[in-house]
Amino acid sequence: MIRPPEYVLGIQPYVPGKPIEELERELGITDSVKLASNENPIGPSPASLKAIAGSLGDLNRYPDGAGYYLKKALSGKLGVAEEEIILGNGSNELLDIAAKTFMKDGDEAVMAVPSFVVYFMAVQGIGGRSVQVPLKDHTHDLGAMADAITPATKMLFIANPNNPTGTMNRKDEFDRMMERVPNDVLVVIDEAYYEYVSDPEYADSMKYLRSEKNVLILRTFSKIYGLAGLRLGYGIAKRELIADMNRLREPFNTNTVAQKAAIAALTDTDHVTRSRQVNEAGKDYLYRELRSMGVAFVPTEANFIFIPVEGSMALYEKLLKMGVIIRPMGPKAIRVTIGLPEENRRFIEALKAARG
Ligand SMILES: Cc1ncc(COP(=O)(O)O)c(C=O)c1O
Repeated sequence: MIRPPEYVLGIQPYVPGKPIEELERELGITDSVKLASNENPIGPSPASLKAIAGSLGDLNRYPDGAGYYLKKALSGKLGVAEEEIILGNGSNELLDIAAKTFMKDGDEAVMAVPSFVVYFMAVQGIGGRSVQVPLKDHTHDLGAMADAITPATKMLFIANPNNPTGTMNRKDEFDRMMERVPNDVLVVIDEAYYEYVSDPEYADSMKYLRSEKNVLILRTFSKIYGLAGLRLGYGIAKRELIADMNRLREPFNTNTVAQKAAIAALTDTDHVTRSRQVNEAGKDYLYRELRSMGVAFVPTEANFIFIPVEGSMALYEKLLKMGVIIRPMGPKAIRVTIGLPEENRRFIEALKAARG
């Protein structure tokens, strides 16, 4: 029987959060809450829903492979050229395309641990070597990541804010790191949670676009825009780098419905504001309740909270039985997405009950 190469066998398939329907069927309940995948709890914008409905009659046609109108809309919003943008089937796909484009078998990529597991998978998938640098105070240690660069390094992956810890890197430390990155290394700055950040010291990735450095900034419609189910992310980089990535991009990688929904989402700034407000209010509530219970947590710049806790798997199982789906993060932490007020209350009640 044919078997894949060793490096493919080194990949553990991604384990997604448990689907609500499956849990409810198992428990015989109908009111479970899913706080496991950092989705927007208020749903998509009404403008996106209208655009989605309006696009369905065209589904006999292939999508616009170049994503002309969406790139035009993003170009206007971001102040970059359309040729400096690439669309992906989620920003996830762009991580894969970037690794395939800029790395080969045996090359190295530097990434933090714990961080978004797909960086490791993308590098492993092409036979590359992942150099994993532990977080410091739950935050990317950019100095140690720069120290880890060798002549074999082709890429650095930085999630800012980081998943699963919700921490961010500041302008000054980012500048210091970028000065040390050679000009033949690509720095992927994954800003999936960009729109949630409120700290004014948040590193401005866009300024490196106009420097001699190589950056690929990744953002997504899956989080604050509430369109995770449609899979649409985008990358911003110098036009030469985008052109290189387009060599390996599947011609019709983003679909018609997603493109139309995303264009509409960009017009609905009220939805983004409301999503941010719901997140901030939920964050305040969860901080207050966790503090009053004496539960330590890592303050977040995103839409989820990392809670270091012993016996996280057992806690996950207990919460699951109460219809609350969160995410265990190894044996010593959980991650909970900030939900609607009622969902957050359910989580706190279940946590209290689980702790006895
Ligand atoms: C840090 C980070 N990057 C990328 C993604 C993937 O997002 P997308 O839905 O755009 O593929 C996620 C999703 O959870 C994430 O947490």
